[in-house]
Amino acid sequence: MNPVIDLILNRKSVRAYEAKEISAETKQEILAASLRAPTAGNMMLYSIIEVNDQRAKDTLAKTCDNQPFIAKAPWVLLFLADYQRWYDYFIACGVPEMFEQKGSAMRKPEEGDLFLACCDALIAAQTAVIAAESLGVGSCYIGDIMENYEAHRELFNLPQYVFPICLLCFGYPTRQQKEREQTQRFDTKFIVFENQYKRLDRASFEEMYRDLHERTFRDRTTVESASNIGQLQYQRKFSADFTIEMTRSVRAILKTWQAD
Ligand SMILES: Cc1cc2nc3c(=O)[nH]c(=O)nc-3n(C[C@H](O)[C@H](O)[C@H](O)COP(=O)(O)O)c2cc1C
Repeated sequence: MNPVIDLILNRKSVRAYEAKEISAETKQEILAASLRAPTAGNMMLYSIIEVNDQRAKDTLAKTCDNQPFIAKAPWVLLFLADYQRWYDYFIACGVPEMFEQKGSAMRKPEEGDLFLACCDALIAAQTAVIAAESLGVGSCYIGDIMENYEAHRELFNLPQYVFPICLLCFGYPTRQQKEREQTQRFDTKFIVFENQYKRLDRASFEEMYRDLHERTFRDRTTVESASNIGQLQYQRKFSADFTIEMTRSVRAILKTWQAD
């Protein structure tokens, strides 16, 4: 099989790491690959913070929904959707004065700019994931970095037009992680449509979730008072405390972004 496809098809998130440092050369290779990711208008609307300070990692292990493995990861990268750099550059280049002369005002980064910057940051992050994987370095995304904005803003000195979109933990996988079974995915037909969006009916849902349901409810009729995957997922993820906090925190980030 094509080795790139093989690598992608066999990747797993890695949450337990060997006590082995990642060399500076390997880190450099991963970063170089990440920075070659496609980027909107070739603007590189993102920044990356290498979190090397153990105290900061310890804090993240708590503020990102209490996930202790973050503190143990040999390498942690914070991906930021970043319009601050361009905005500061516009100002340094006299864009406000240019508009003043025309009798109008310069626009500030808005929601569309934020979404584009998030795309850039996430594409760079995933490129780092695949590059790392090709070098034997496992990784895991931490979406919970979108929680506790105020604490993260202070910890990393984040200005107004910077949105912490994802954290990545890297390290060499332990044997247990290497041997762990891969997670399952839904069948392509439920995810990939032709020309038009297709809403799924009950029969399709039944088929889509059958395997997962059977694995989850193999020897019991309820799990955490839920009797099917929808009820379970709603409780575990959709209405969980971390999700509520993420919504609060993202609103706070948006309020900052939209402030005059
Ligand atoms: C946006 C995003 C956020 C994630 N956040 C976390 C997280 O906070 N903690 C964690 O352990 N895994 C996190 N993951 C990893 C997923 O749980 C994992 O990708 C999923 O369970 C599928 O498993 P696999 O990556 O091994 O195929 C995240 C993944 C993505 C893409």
